Amino acid sequence: MLASNQKTEHEEVIRKANEHINEQSKGAQEEPFRLNYHFMPPVGWMNDPNGLIHFRGEYHLFYQYYPYKSIWGPMHWGHAKSKDLIHWTHLPVALAPSEEYDKGEEGGYGVWSGSAVQADGKLVLFYTGHVDGRAPVEVQCMAESADGVVFKKHPANPVIGKAPDGARFGFRDPKVWKQGDSWYMVVGSGQDGKGQALLYRSATLTEWEYMGVAAESDGTKGDMWECPDLFPLGDKHVLAISPMNMNGAKNWLMVGEMDYETGKFKPEYEARLDEGFDFYAAQTLLDDKGRRIVIAWMDMWGSKLISEERGWYGAMTLPRELVLTPQGTVVSRPIRELEALREAHWISESLLLQDGEIRCWNQPDGNPLEIIAWLSKGDDEKVSVVFNLSSSEDDREKTTVAYSFRDRILTVDRSESGIGDGGVNRIVLPESSSSEVKLHMFLDRSSLEIFVNDGEKVITNRIYPGDDSRTFKVTATGGKAKVTLEGWELGNIWN
Ligand code: FRU
Repeated sequence: MLASNQKTEHEEVIRKANEHINEQSKGAQEEPFRLNYHFMPPVGWMNDPNGLIHFRGEYHLFYQYYPYKSIWGPMHWGHAKSKDLIHWTHLPVALAPSEEYDKGEEGGYGVWSGSAVQADGKLVLFYTGHVDGRAPVEVQCMAESADGVVFKKHPANPVIGKAPDGARFGFRDPKVWKQGDSWYMVVGSGQDGKGQALLYRSATLTEWEYMGVAAESDGTKGDMWECPDLFPLGDKHVLAISPMNMNGAKNWLMVGEMDYETGKFKPEYEARLDEGFDFYAAQTLLDDKGRRIVIAWMDMWGSKLISEERGWYGAMTLPRELVLTPQGTVVSRPIRELEALREAHWISESLLLQDGEIRCWNQPDGNPLEIIAWLSKGDDEKVSVVFNLSSSEDDREKTTVAYSFRDRILTVDRSESGIGDGGVNRIVLPESSSSEVKLHMFLDRSSLEIFVNDGEKVITNRIYPGDDSRTFKVTATGGKAKVTLEGWELGNIWN
């Protein structure tokens, strides 16, 4: 029994972490690639968004956090809140490794990914306790808070003490929601080379009944489904996953029917949620306006720039609203609140670009820029419109966004973007884009997010251009094209 003034192990680990963050954050702010209007940790390493929730009128974002170095380590949960999903206030670390089910001596351990719900007025978190070398390695745990800031791990932990039946590849990342009178939880796993979403049901939040495999890979969708999120959207359900070892995709979305009696999810339509290189561990929340909002880790495991030297690592994507279309597909749209960031405005209407003609603009300091471009091909079948973003004077450094009307292929090429990873995204747009296309681009100091045709496709990439690569150019090749551009410089949320 602890004396009333004695700190628990959990409180002590959190105190230490917060002290470190307060001391070290200032240094990390100097790093040249910090973003202007995206969420980032104050210092240290961040990966998955966790525990997204709209609680008592505010949005809460928790995240996989290692405050001590800018590389992955024993996981804590960082925490921030916001009234508009854009301007964030950092809060004290919410969870840290402290118990035998989430703390180890070495190797991987800690408070791994999970989710949040509101129950009996409290903010309740679910997470995976992971301890390499312990048997079992992964268990599901719970923590609660009355004020939404200070969290206590539940005495009933682990609330799910082992994975169901047979040998499994992973058992983690619980996402909890309420449907009717019951609580449900999906947990990411894999068996016999197939990724799976396991389903549990509960009346109490502390006792969970295993209902079975809600959905699994058909053999082509990876061997472990990290961070599953199963939620209603319109009159359907959506299952979003982060598949490990899937060919050609690091994120995947399925739209279908959920049967809560049998516990089975039947997909009817599938696609990538984002076509870029830096979109992982997406998680959604439902807000008081009824919007289903998704945020993902805007980075990727194995990226070239991960290093201890940078002082910080990891950013979140812009929040996007998910909408089910009448055709049963899902579009992702930048949330309306982002318009509040708009400052200096310009518009160039109906530019008729001749073959080879180049138009140039300067990017503001740090590249916080939103550009909406409407492209149309006129009579020239073979024309492409090419944007060089964050390009250097000699054009050697640039990120290219090109659309070819003839084959309806949109290409985002970051192989000459700067010091980060290279790679090309090549996306075929639908028939409806054969003569016109709309690109809505958000450029920040080290990121580029492109929403195509109001969210039909989204392409998210980190790019790391030098400080002098501050020109933005547009040109037509192979014929004439009509281009209308509207743009804004965007404000800095961290000032
Ligand atoms: C996904 C993930 C999760 C895990 C967490 C650990 O990026 O691997 O499956 O819970 O990160 O930090």
